[in-house]
Amino acid sequence: MTVYFSDGQFTKREELTISIDDRGYYFGDGVYEVIKVYGGELYTAKEHIDRLFQSAAKIKMTIPYADVQIMEIARELVKANNILTGHIYLQITRGSAPRLHQFPDPSVQPVVTAYAVNNPRPLEGMENGVPVKSVEDVRWLRCDIKSLNLLGNVLAKQEAYEAGCVEALLHREGVVTEGSASNMFGIKNGTVYTHPATNLILNGITRQVVLGLCKDLCIPVVEQSFTLDEACEMDEFILTSTTSEVTPVISIDGRPIGSGVPGIITKKLQEAFALQIPSFIAGE
Ligand code: PDD
Repeated sequence: MTVYFSDGQFTKREELTISIDDRGYYFGDGVYEVIKVYGGELYTAKEHIDRLFQSAAKIKMTIPYADVQIMEIARELVKANNILTGHIYLQITRGSAPRLHQFPDPSVQPVVTAYAVNNPRPLEGMENGVPVKSVEDVRWLRCDIKSLNLLGNVLAKQEAYEAGCVEALLHREGVVTEGSASNMFGIKNGTVYTHPATNLILNGITRQVVLGLCKDLCIPVVEQSFTLDEACEMDEFILTSTTSEVTPVISIDGRPIGSGVPGIITKKLQEAFALQIPSFIAGE
């Protein structure tokens, strides 16, 4: 039986009640996080929960729990659902109220919903690499907020899927920003390039882990944007996210990156990433 968290309590899926007046449903008015679980333990949970609070503050929403309580809810979901390798999905909307665009009365409480699922590591893509398709980034200018409003991301991902690719490489007038649900890195002559953590991208937790690993491995990093043409000329290319970890990109719009197979620096980063996963179960 899958246990969910909703409305202040742990509950069965069949007993979940979501209001038609939920502002998440009407407006995408809320924020969310995806936290990875390895070997039954939450990974970088504090960083995700801190970002959840930052996202909420940026949309002027107060989370009706302390960070330690959110952590406890996440831990409880892992335990109750026997999650070994998977993730927690956690979302908070501005609550349920008759449909008016402006914020509801302050007495309306934000709605916190969360669940946990088993989800294996995407080993195939991590091993062999994945193709991506470039898509114009038409999202709003606050991509630093992990908002529920993901229409721009959804449309970009769909366009990539229809072209036989697993991810969209977003660009604003030719300048690469990030993926539809991941961050993007290019590697040229031994240096790692990635878009700086501005309002135009989500500052991924995996992105931050990878930047830390580059430092540990003495791999130079430049947090500077690059163009789509420059992306195609990189020696190696990587996408990162909570669920994709460090995944090599082997082609952009059908053009192979480097020799078209995962490169040496990519592999080094993947190995270093795997080593710092808590309770990492090799081969799982
Ligand atoms: N997506 N950029 C965007 C637009 C994202 O949606 C995500 C994550 C990332 C990577 O962030 P992180 O490393 O913290 O997962 C970057 C999640 C996994 C999702 O929406 O499912």
